[in-house]
Amino acid sequence: MSTTHDNNPAAKLELDGKTYELPIIEGTEGERAIDISRLRPDSGYITLDEGYGNTGSCKSSITFIDGEKGILRYRGIPIDELAEKSTFVEAAFLLIYGHLPNRTELRNWSDSLAEHQMVHENMRFHFEGFPVTAHPMAILSSMINASSCYYPGLMTGQNPTRFDVQASRLISQVRTIAAFSYRKSRGLPTIYPKKAYKYTANFLHMMFSMPYEDYEMDPAAVRALDLVFMLHADHEQNCSTATVRTVASSKANLFASAAAGVCALWGPLHGGANQAVLEMLQAIHDEGDDGSKFIQAAKNKTRRLMGFGHRVYKNYDPRAKIIKKTCDDLLEKLSISDPLLDIAKRLEEAAIHDEYFVERKLYPNVDFYSGIIMRAVGIPLEMFTVIFAIGRMPGWIANYKEIMESPDSRICRPRQIYTGKEINSYIPLDQRA
Ligand code: ACO
Repeated sequence: MSTTHDNNPAAKLELDGKTYELPIIEGTEGERAIDISRLRPDSGYITLDEGYGNTGSCKSSITFIDGEKGILRYRGIPIDELAEKSTFVEAAFLLIYGHLPNRTELRNWSDSLAEHQMVHENMRFHFEGFPVTAHPMAILSSMINASSCYYPGLMTGQNPTRFDVQASRLISQVRTIAAFSYRKSRGLPTIYPKKAYKYTANFLHMMFSMPYEDYEMDPAAVRALDLVFMLHADHEQNCSTATVRTVASSKANLFASAAAGVCALWGPLHGGANQAVLEMLQAIHDEGDDGSKFIQAAKNKTRRLMGFGHRVYKNYDPRAKIIKKTCDDLLEKLSISDPLLDIAKRLEEAAIHDEYFVERKLYPNVDFYSGIIMRAVGIPLEMFTVIFAIGRMPGWIANYKEIMESPDSRICRPRQIYTGKEINSYIPLDQRA
């Protein structure tokens, strides 16, 4: 490493006989990046990094991950400390506003979430248009986008008061929309939220109560689901958050940006993995496999061990550790014996000692055990990724806010290396082969 003319650290790059100085940027936790923002204007070259494994797309002060050491912190606070002492609603405030709320802030934040929990009554008619077979993630993304139609005055994130209302509306309503879409898919009457219930209890109420009978809640189940929401609340520049930031960079509104995040989350390599894990465990169970055939298939690359591996974690995902313990505690508390949990534990045990997985540093990620908790709480399989989306909403909003407030923010517009045909001529239809 050398230094620039003003004595800042820099990398030197030699290209075509010329030397370029590229400034080194250092984050607060010591992670370093080579700033290539002047590379193309100065040299004509671009960099190529498919899947962005080596590319920092932004500077951010929201969440820190050290994938080698298995560390995750929201605004500097370790995830295990938050899991032990905080709630999803408090963590959401922390992520979005950058500090833990004081008593008044927390009360105002909770009141604001309660005030905005009802979707516009006309929105209920939108649900009628979806077939009962619609995946709830399709309904969720469409309905989040559709809800922007009802708040035309709240389209920009620039005004802080407007942003606050938008943010609480979205966090609160994503849960209402999710529960409504589940009720619709089961042909059940819609259950409205109750002001007296807290965030996660209210979600369970809207999911499972009947007009004639309130759902009986087990506090352990409420707490476990609240924890699942919190553990999913942010994870720096993952696929869906990077998508939200990309959409937001064009100055699209918060609802449009969040709807795009839901779409990105849906895929089985990202949020859809929690559903895929349970389907995998069920298939192993149904086939009478003890897990060894599946592990072999994963090593032969004919199948993928879902809930294993992570782009950033090359160590045990800290969220998976917390979730595994919560899973054990909850099942014991509810006196549930789930054969899929036994299979999951056997698979984990076999995989983390197998050379293939060890060499590639593949460990269980957050999705490996979360599905078993959701199953114990009674959440149906097709809603698993929706639960992830509810949890991730504060992270998307915090990233949206950061991009809107950053003076350095530019529209996200990567370049490419074109590998298609060189200049070619139009052939009239009657002369084509
Ligand atoms: N099972 C078997 N082999 C795997 C797995 C897995 N789950 N994950 C990675 N590998 C192997 C790859 O085949 C590759 O092997 P090779 O070096 O012999 O070619 C090597 O490990 C590296 O894997 P990549 O796919 O290059 O890793 P990448 O960082 O691109 O992908 C991902 C990460 C998508 C999470 C991947 O590990 C995966 O598909 N896991 C299963 C799906 C999953 O659980 N997704 C949830 C992620 S967490 C989240 O979104 C909340």
